[in-house]
Parts: sequence; C-alpha cells; structure tokens
Amino acid sequence: MRILLIGSGGREHALAWKIAQSPKVEQLYIAPGNAGTANAGINVNIKVNEFDKIREFVVSNHIDMVVVGPEDPLVNGIYDYFKNDAELSGIPVIGPSKAGAVLEGSKEFAKGFMQRHNIPTARYKSITADNIEEGMAFLETLEAPYVLKADGLCAGKGVLILPTLEEAKKELKEMLGGMFGNASAKVVIEEFLSGIECSVFVLTDGKNYKILPEAKDYKRIGEGDKGLNTGGMGSVSPVPFADKEWMQKVEDRIIRPTVEGLAAENIDYKGFIFFGLINVKGNPMVIEYNVRMGDPETESVMLRIKSDLVDLFEGVAAGNLNEKELVIDERAAVCVMLVSGGYPEAYEKGYAISGIEEVADSIVFHAGTALKDNQVVTNGGRVIAVSSYGNNKEEALALSFKNAQKIQFEKKYFRSDIGFDL
Ligand code: AMP
Ligand code: GLY
Repeated sequence: MRILLIGSGGREHALAWKIAQSPKVEQLYIAPGNAGTANAGINVNIKVNEFDKIREFVVSNHIDMVVVGPEDPLVNGIYDYFKNDAELSGIPVIGPSKAGAVLEGSKEFAKGFMQRHNIPTARYKSITADNIEEGMAFLETLEAPYVLKADGLCAGKGVLILPTLEEAKKELKEMLGGMFGNASAKVVIEEFLSGIECSVFVLTDGKNYKILPEAKDYKRIGEGDKGLNTGGMGSVSPVPFADKEWMQKVEDRIIRPTVEGLAAENIDYKGFIFFGLINVKGNPMVIEYNVRMGDPETESVMLRIKSDLVDLFEGVAAGNLNEKELVIDERAAVCVMLVSGGYPEAYEKGYAISGIEEVADSIVFHAGTALKDNQVVTNGGRVIAVSSYGNNKEEALALSFKNAQKIQFEKKYFRSDIGFDL
C-alpha cells in the first residue's frame, strides 16, 4: 500500500514509525512531516489544510490510504472532501467526517452530545452575548474554581480556570467580547471536576471499536505540574488507576455510548476518538473529546501496540474492525519531551541538535525539527520526544531521562518528574 500521513509533529513521527513497520506498506509519505519523519518515509511539502494540493498528490502518486494526524484538517472537512470527489471517494481517509470532528471543534456540541447520550460529564451551560445574564447567574450557582471554555478550536488555549467568581465573570465578558476571536463567541461554563486525568483512545469504524492503551500526559511546563500550560511535556502508559474495573466503567458508560451515539445521529466516523477523562472518586467523567490521537500520548501509546496498525486501519476503512486483532505490549512506555528554552512563551528556533545518533535504547521522535543544510535544527517549542520501554514506568523513565541528557541543543529544557504522581 501507498499511504499518505498528514501532519508534522511528534504524534505524526510516532504514527509514521508504527505505520512504516507494517509489511503491507510499500511507500509512506508524510505531508509536511519534519526532520524525523523523513527517516520513516518521504516528506512532501504540502500543508495540512491544502486540500487541493493533497488531492493532486494523492492522484498522481496512486495513494491507497490517507491517515490524518491533527484535528485542523478534520474539522475543515478533509474526510468529506475525499468522499465527495469522484476520483478520491474510493480512497479511505482515517479520521472522522466534518460532522464527527465537531466533537472536538465545538465544546457546546460535545456537551450536548454527552447530555443526549447520558455520558458522564460536568454540569454546564452554553452562553453567548445574548444570554450573558444567564451565564452570570449560572456562575453564581457553582463553587470555585470556575471553568470557562471557548466553544471553538483555540490551539489548546481556550480553557480558563478562574479562582474567584469576580474573575470568572470578568473573563466571561472578555471571552464573549472576542478574546479568542470567533472561537469564543460562545462559551461553555462548566462545573469544576477534581481528580486525576487520563487519556483513553479508541479506533473505530463507526460501529466496532478497539480500545488502545491509555496514557497520562503532563501539560504544565514546570515540575510538580506548576506553571503555564504547554502542548504536553511527557506521557506515561499504562496508567495505574485505569485498572480493569475502571476501564470497564469507561467502556460501558463512555466509549460504547459514544460510538453508538455517533451511529444513532448518522455521523460518519472512521478514525480515532480521544477521550480526555478525569477520575472523580473512582468514576470516569469526560472532560473533553478530541477526534485524533493525543500528543505526546501517541509517543508512548504507539510503543505498546504490537499489532500491525495498517491492518487495523484497513479494518476501519472496510467496517470490519471486529475481525482484526489488537495485541498490546505488557511493558510500560513513556515519553519525555525536550523543549526550547522559553517555551511555551517566546523562544528561538534554528539551533543545531546533536547527539541523536548516540541514543540506542530509546526511540527518538521528532516534534519541532527541520533539516537545514543537512543539519537537524530546532523548529518549534516542543522539539524532540524521547520514548522508552521498561518493565515498569520507573525503568522506562530512567532510560528516557538518560537519553534526554545525550541530545543537545542550546537552551534545551525537559521535565525530570514525568510520572511523579502515579
Ligand atoms: P481542554 O482544552 O478541554 O483539554 O481543557 C484543558 C484542561 O483544563 C484539561 O486538561 C483539564 O486539566 C482542565 N479542565 C477542563 N475542564 C475541566 C473541568 N470541568 N474540571 C476540571 N478541570 C478541567
Ligand atoms: N495531550 C493532549 C492533546 O493532545 O490534546
């Protein structure tokens, strides 16, 4: 098969690494990719939302399957673009339709969907400038802290957690006034849930599903989960509290009702669903849906999938995922993210990266890198994920921390406490 993978981050390098291991793959292309994906396939200089250019490439290179990494092209309807084009409609796209991607693209839709299908989630109200008074009144019924979510996509920045009622009211006004542009013209106000978070992933053909290994990610820049939010500083899989009993609750109360709910609402969904869960006194509740894999969770989850991922994708496309086998590696897998100094605020790009070739017992996934005159250089806030296996998370983390030291670039930073709370 000839596969085109869309995206350019650490998630996509991990997907590319796994896809390239499949004996079914004749050639893998990554658009646009990064310096690391170039080791798993051929990078193509096309951006994720350039659908017409993707079309041209797919047709002229006889691509058999398209796998979509990030949410943006999904929310923009890449699945439907293929489906509605006579020449492309036979080429499977792994990723939901535009109608399905709304689960991530609109927090209001996601909350309404969960309400319709009795899926446990925080109490909420959706507010616009027209009913702001209702929003203020709802805030008064809640206890601190207060959770405000911009309805639309904000590159992970659209959620505010405010310690006082005064601040919550002030921020609600500012969000509705255009703090995140059109994305916050609607705001979801939510009850705050207290507990440990866990990311659960499924691959679905719209009817059948496979539950992939769960993971926990570490979002804050500082050790002890302090400081600003980032795209993710590391991840650990498995998650100890996500034991058999808890995962059974997740499947019965959340996964199955979600997949059945999508089908009942005639939403075409063939791809990953990412359940952002929180464990509230032993009971899983949904914080958010994403319509793709998580980053940096993918950089540990892919290590734990023993089966041929492309074979599973074929099951997704054909609607017979139930006939496919998913074998999970019992070992632990972790990733530690090396980031640019200053991130998630201003940082410099273009620093030379050395030492990658000295890493033998971890897997190096590139996140924000580029090739400049044959030299791998930093090209983003999150630069490289160092992923490792271990008999337990301590062993795996020890390898990732050791190898994180070997890779050098100016102003490199990483958290050396990934997994501290588990
Ligand atoms: P999201 O962008 O929806 O993933 O939200 C970002 C982060 O905000 C989540 O990962 C949680 O840590 C936190 N968060 C969101 N909603 C809630 C909630 N209802 N209660 C507690 N924390 C929340
Ligand atoms: N790790 C969280 C995300 O990918 O959104």
